[in-house]
Amino acid sequence: MAMKEERKGIHVLMVAFAAQGHINPMLRLGKRLVSKGLHVTLATTELAAHRMLKFSTTTTKSISGIHLEFFFDGLSIDYDRKSNLDHYMDTLAKFGPINLSKLIQNLSHDHVPKFSCIINNPFVPWVADVAAEHKIPCAMLCIQPCTLYAIYYRFFNNLNSFPSLTNPDMSVELPGLPLLHTQDLPSFVLPSNPFGSIPKLFSQMFQNMKKVKWVLGNSFYELEKEVIDSMAELYPIRPIGPLVPSILLGEDQNLDIGIDLWKPEETCMEWLNQQPPSSVIYVSFGSNVVLSAKQMENIARGLKNSNHPFLWVAKSSDYPVKDGAGELPLGFLEETKGQGLIVPWCPQTKVLAHPAIACFLSHCGWNSTLETMAAGIPIIAYPQWTDQPTNAKLIGDVLQVGVKLMPNKDGVVSNEEVERCIGEIVGGPKAEEFKKKAAELKKGARQAVAEGGSSDRNMQLFVDEIIGNSR
Ligand code: UDX
Repeated sequence: MAMKEERKGIHVLMVAFAAQGHINPMLRLGKRLVSKGLHVTLATTELAAHRMLKFSTTTTKSISGIHLEFFFDGLSIDYDRKSNLDHYMDTLAKFGPINLSKLIQNLSHDHVPKFSCIINNPFVPWVADVAAEHKIPCAMLCIQPCTLYAIYYRFFNNLNSFPSLTNPDMSVELPGLPLLHTQDLPSFVLPSNPFGSIPKLFSQMFQNMKKVKWVLGNSFYELEKEVIDSMAELYPIRPIGPLVPSILLGEDQNLDIGIDLWKPEETCMEWLNQQPPSSVIYVSFGSNVVLSAKQMENIARGLKNSNHPFLWVAKSSDYPVKDGAGELPLGFLEETKGQGLIVPWCPQTKVLAHPAIACFLSHCGWNSTLETMAAGIPIIAYPQWTDQPTNAKLIGDVLQVGVKLMPNKDGVVSNEEVERCIGEIVGGPKAEEFKKKAAELKKGARQAVAEGGSSDRNMQLFVDEIIGNSR
């Protein structure tokens, strides 16, 4: 009883970058903290509030026991943040600390317990500075795999050799990881990548780790054992995931939490109900990738020629694009009527949990990857940038739960390659093995978050330490 009362006085502030793949894992972490008896507030920018009001059933004040707060990022709602990413990130880094600091002061009054911990992620490194100013301990949630944490930590602290302008093609050997060739490395560590706003943020974060008391990973120990162990002596990371919807973990669906920044097309579930078991190729590239017209055409032709039913999320860009990027080839909709369904956004986790799904052709964003693993489904990897190439390496070579689409000598993934990989995953000689691996990962994910599992123990340890620290 005394312990419960004590926990009610513990208030955790989570600060998320306003993106679909950032807010949802934070909310799921918040939900677990609430279930352990803690008081939780999530702060993000007004951009998220604007979209949430438009598409979600939530109010802007709270969601499943988590209090919501929004602050100004320095730009108007309709500013094209995607095309002007560097300016957006710079402005956020300027206004974010001021406005977050004000918010902390405003929330520090008699009716609300004072903050015992602030949780950030590497996209908002300045939150660790704000936490330090207010003398509140900071935790960092990595929303990408622990593998990426290890790579970035080593890269931004110059601990290992990485490709450089003089040696651009070198392979990288790191503890706990297979040999990484340039095509397996995150795009931000390659010399071909201009040192833009995101690597700048990461370098700020990873060189400033002394301000971070706990590093939490959206993963589970059994998934990335060797690389997690390899960081134990350096700057340990504790996996507490997968932070995926309850429906994928066999938990009570009513306990689910999450928001949609776009409106999901629920009718695709009725369409899935009409399809044979394990027959549908699900295709999606997450919330921010826009494929070129050539990529769209080759996927379209590959899907059509595979003769499999398909569900394709083809979200048009929120901002103007050039040269037909993101658009379906002319006539494709009519040609494939009856074979496939194309929607702008879908309820992805419900889709992945549907028995009609055979595999996921994915850009390998980490949320999609974890959701697919928790659903026990094989993956066709088509990584584009950031962590996605490394996630694809994990999927294909380390966990062996899928195949990667390989570009031809001109750097193009052809329609024949799309068709070949679909055949390999769905009906090839290794198809049963992929399914078996996928089923093992599904079981592992559930065990990790169940009471007494590796992630549940790490979560409990984190909670106990926050409480101990605030005494
Ligand atoms: C970004 C980066 O691109 C990714 O590389 C990084 O790992 C996380 O941040 P994003 O591209 O949006 O994320 O991909 P992902 O991490 O897969 O997140 C997409 C989320 O949107 C998933 O939770 C998925 O369930 C959801 N989604 C996607 C839908 O709900 N409906 C859809 O139609 C498509």
